[in-house]
Amino acid sequence: MDIRPVFIGRLKIDPPLFLAPMAGLTHSALRQLILDFGGVGLLSTEMLSAARLQNENPQISPYLITTEREHPISYQFLVYRSDHIKRALQKIENLGADAIDINLGCGAPKVRKKGGGIGLASDHKRLFEIVTEIKKNTTLPVTAKIRLGTELSEEKFINKCKFLEEIGIDCIYIHARLEKEPFCRPAKWEFVSCLKDQINIPYIINGGIFSYEEADNALKKSLAYGVMIGRAAPIRPWIFREILEQRTITVDLPKIYFKFIEYLIELFPIERRLGRLKEFTHYFSKNYAFGNRLAMAVQRTNSLDEAIKVAEEFFTKNG
Ligand SMILES: Cc1cc2nc3c(=O)[nH]c(=O)nc-3n(C[C@H](O)[C@H](O)[C@H](O)COP(=O)(O)O)c2cc1C
Repeated sequence: MDIRPVFIGRLKIDPPLFLAPMAGLTHSALRQLILDFGGVGLLSTEMLSAARLQNENPQISPYLITTEREHPISYQFLVYRSDHIKRALQKIENLGADAIDINLGCGAPKVRKKGGGIGLASDHKRLFEIVTEIKKNTTLPVTAKIRLGTELSEEKFINKCKFLEEIGIDCIYIHARLEKEPFCRPAKWEFVSCLKDQINIPYIINGGIFSYEEADNALKKSLAYGVMIGRAAPIRPWIFREILEQRTITVDLPKIYFKFIEYLIELFPIERRLGRLKEFTHYFSKNYAFGNRLAMAVQRTNSLDEAIKVAEEFFTKNG
């Protein structure tokens, strides 16, 4: 696989392997677990409401807790209007953000109706105002995360990406599915290749990459500059290293699971730990043939201690 560093504005991403923003999942504990294996080029937060950011306390907010080793890191904004931008930017710059991403792909009805995610992607006037306001208030690189649009039209897709470049976006993350397509549908990596030579900023392919072979395939088909990994990251936090080394590595699954719990205990307020563990377990349990038993057992627990106990029992029985 041909993987060369990518520049997002002045920020060098080497290797060009990106962690996707995922609500409830891409917090400090998962990011650190990924860093323990290496291979990741740019970390990410989950989507953060630009309006609500100023009320979050970075010492205790699970959205903002971070450690010194988690760099480079991109902060993703869920944003509706330009008037919260300045203070939101100050907050994340103080926390050491290395890049800012704008969520233009979230299709949740609540978000879309309020004009965020895909609701913002289609409103060029407001999007222009927001990006201009961001650019006015920071020198950090600014990226946008999009879906393919409402229909499969090369012309519309290329125009949308050209527009993003024109208004100052430094890199585009492309979740290669249409706006209404569920995650079970195959991602359209090949369609994205129509962007080649049409824009002068890098674009990164995302969607349906769960192994190093798929990363290679997605890169070749899309002609993208790098790959972004979502759900595979909580399933296989070592996937970035596998992509980098182009081979499968052997890992100790229970050790990884309990390391994740250790990070949760170290970092998160007590009432925030179990929920994060349940979310993580939903994905991590997919490493086992009967992993749904682990996910369901942890789901039913009412405390972290109880969750640890059921996980220990599961690992004893399932190797
Ligand atoms: C639980 C979950 C939460 C997500 N949250 C976000 C988010 O906060 N911001 C965003 O842009 N995309 C979000 N996504 C979409 C992912 O970033 C990614 O585009 C999608 O999962 C496809 O990539 P994958 O097939 O590698 O998982 C989320 C996806 C999942 C499964």
